[in-house]
Amino acid sequence: MSSRKKIGLVGAGNIGGELANLIVQKQLGDVVLYDIPPKENFAKGKALDLEQSQAVNGSDVRVTGTSNWADLAGADVLIITAGIPRKPGQSRDDLVETNLPIIRDVADNAAKHCPDAFAIVISNPLDAMVYELRRRTNKPRAQVVGMAGVLDSSRFALFLSRELQVSIKDIRAMVLGGHGDDMVPVLSNCTVNGIPIRQLMAKDKLAAIVDRTRKGGGEIVGLMGTSAYYAPAASAVAMAESYLLDQRRVLPCAAYLDGEYGYKDLYMGVPVVIGAEGVEQIIQIELDAEEKAMLAKSADSVQKVVDLVKKKS
Ligand code: APR
Repeated sequence: MSSRKKIGLVGAGNIGGELANLIVQKQLGDVVLYDIPPKENFAKGKALDLEQSQAVNGSDVRVTGTSNWADLAGADVLIITAGIPRKPGQSRDDLVETNLPIIRDVADNAAKHCPDAFAIVISNPLDAMVYELRRRTNKPRAQVVGMAGVLDSSRFALFLSRELQVSIKDIRAMVLGGHGDDMVPVLSNCTVNGIPIRQLMAKDKLAAIVDRTRKGGGEIVGLMGTSAYYAPAASAVAMAESYLLDQRRVLPCAAYLDGEYGYKDLYMGVPVVIGAEGVEQIIQIELDAEEKAMLAKSADSVQKVVDLVKKKS
């Protein structure tokens, strides 16, 4: 048996394929690409295609495709993209009907076959799906996290760097709250290498960038007819890497709140430290009054979807 880490990707679609590609290139561990039985050959084909890139990029990890959950047993990390992506005109919340039974199926299998895995959920509506996965698996909150804030912050940083014409490496930008149109780009903490963003950019320009960030996912759905996959995959891999390599990076992620920021029994985007123990810490930053109000509105939206999910149990 390999002593390399094992990473299970649940869903071998657009994001799943790009996740596998990045993991292979970074050699983070062996990849098992799972999809439902009708897509078994598709998952196997993707895995083989990726393995055939290894002679070129000098990577030695294994990639296998499967529709058998038993092949995911012993996974160190599970990254879950199972579900249907948005189509033009749909909100993330519109996906509850289709994606709730899927996430429940995934949760039951994850609990049975991969009880010790660190689980990163990407399926939408994100905050409600990650809530349900944790509720259903009954895993410790440190072991279940949702990917949204890294992606939303990355979009925010891109738009700021383009507008200011400075390197994206020097942008420090964080988006908190739910992964919906009322997410909260935190201007009070946003800097260009320590220089407060409000000193560098006019109010109206900043407001336009905040608006574009909030609708960033929808902009891509409008262009492609399906949702984004390169940036979501890169974001989840940053989280997986922080866990696997015990980097203790501070990343905005959907974490289970038990009183932090004044919210209880809710998953929502907050800054967390991800290390070998999973979500090791939730960092509570000071928000200004306007940001607190925006966070409350965002939490309210998340709660409404969670309530809908709870009613369907
Ligand atoms: N178990 C595992 N995989 C499943 C299941 C299931 N029960 N049901 C569906 N899938 C698979 C589909 O067969 C498909 O291959 O999930 C895969 C999803 O892939 P895509 O349709 O390409 O979607 P993708 O763009 O990868 O997005 C997946 O992430 O960002 C979110 O909104 C997005 O919820 C969507 C998810």
